[in-house]
Amino acid sequence: MMSIQPHGGELVNRIAAGGERDALLTEASKLKSITVNAWTISDLDLIGVGAFSPLTGFMNKADYTSVVDSMRLANGLVWSIPITLAVEPNKAAELNAGERAALVGEDGVIYAVIDIEDIYTVDQKHEAVRVFKTDELEHPGVAKLMERSSTYVGGAITVVNRPQPEKFQEFYFDPSETRRLFAEKGWNTIVGFQTRNPVHRAHEYIQKCAMEIVDALFLNPLVGETKSDDVPADVRMKSYLALLENYYPQDRAFLGVFPAAMRYAGPREAIFHAMVRKNYGCTHFIVGRDHAGVGDYYGTYEAQELLKSFAPEELGITPLYFEHSFFCTKCGNMASSKTCPHDKADHLTLSGTKVRALLRDGVCPPPEFSRPEVAKILIEGMSEQPVG
Ligand code: ADX
Repeated sequence: MMSIQPHGGELVNRIAAGGERDALLTEASKLKSITVNAWTISDLDLIGVGAFSPLTGFMNKADYTSVVDSMRLANGLVWSIPITLAVEPNKAAELNAGERAALVGEDGVIYAVIDIEDIYTVDQKHEAVRVFKTDELEHPGVAKLMERSSTYVGGAITVVNRPQPEKFQEFYFDPSETRRLFAEKGWNTIVGFQTRNPVHRAHEYIQKCAMEIVDALFLNPLVGETKSDDVPADVRMKSYLALLENYYPQDRAFLGVFPAAMRYAGPREAIFHAMVRKNYGCTHFIVGRDHAGVGDYYGTYEAQELLKSFAPEELGITPLYFEHSFFCTKCGNMASSKTCPHDKADHLTLSGTKVRALLRDGVCPPPEFSRPEVAKILIEGMSEQPVG
C-alpha cells in the first residue's frame, strides 16, 4: 500500500546537502544575519525536513493573514497556526525583500538562509485572539507571542546546519524516515499520539482502544519548548520507555519525538498537530479531551468540534475522538461516559495538582491512575528538579 499523502501532496525537503550546502555556507558567512532563538531553530528545522509540509519557509503576509483569519493558507489548504519569523524592528530596517539573509543561532551557528519575500508588521493582539481565543498574558502561548517583535519576515528557507539533540538522539526521526520505517514494518494504518505529559492510564487506554483498530501506534511526544511546570522531556522520555517495555507489544508501537514547541492553542493546535502527524506518515490521529489546552481557555471537546468542521478530505488524516477517560471502581476498568453507567463518585479522578503533590512527596499515585514503573520515574525526576 502507498503511504498517506503529505499535506499539500509533496513532502518538502529544504535541507541543503553536499556541494549545495558548502556553497550556501560560504555565501551565508557574507550575508546579513538574523539572530534566531531555540524556538525558531526548531521551526526552521521542522520546515526543512517537511514536518510542516507544504510550508517551505516562514509565512509571508498573504499566508499569515489567511491562516490567522480563516485557518487556511492563501492557496486554500487547511493550516491553523502561524509559523513566522519575528525580527526586531531595527534589524528589519536593514533588510530588503528580494535579498538572502543568514539565520544564526545564539551559539553562532548558521542554521539556515532565508530568501526574503516580504517584511510586514502585524497586530499581535488580533493574532492572539484569533489563534488562542484570548489576549490574556496569563495564557502561556499569548505570553510567548507578545514578547516577540511584531515585525515578521517571510520567505523560503534552506537549512545548512541541523540542531543537534543533547539526549535521546536515537528517537529523532525525520518524516521521510518514519514513512520509510512504517512501510518496512508493513504497517498500513498508523495512529499518531501527541503528548506533552507522562503517559498515564487514561492516555494508555485511549491509545490501546485505537490500537485495536489500526496496525500500530506512533507515540510522538512533543519535546520542544513547553511551559516551566510541565514535566521535562528527558524525564518523560524515560517514562515512555518504561511503559513501552512493560505494557506495549514491541512490534506494534513506535516511539519517536516531535521536536516542536508547544503553543497551547487548544483547538487550532489540534489541527496543526494532526496535519504534522500526517506528514510523518500517520493515517489516524488521537484527539481526546482538551487537546493542547491550558487552564480553562477551551471547552473540553472544542478541539474535536473544530476538526469536525472541516471536510474529511481536506484533513486527509482521520481523527479518532475520545471522551474523557477514567478508571471506574465499579466497572473495575478504564472507561468513559460512553461505556460506563456508574456515578461520578465511582470514578477515580485526580487533578494534575494533586498528582504532582503526591509525586513530590515520593508517593506513587494509585496504579489505576499511573503505572508504578512510570510513577517511580516521575518521583525520581521530581527529586532531581530544583525546588521553587
Ligand atoms: S496535550 O497538550 O499534548 O494535548 P496531553 O499530553 O495531556 O496534553 O494529552 C495527550 C492526548 O491525550 C490529547 O489528545 C488529549 O486530548 C488526550 N487526553 C489526555 N487525558 C485524557 C483523558 N483523561 N481522557 C481522554 N483523553 C485524554
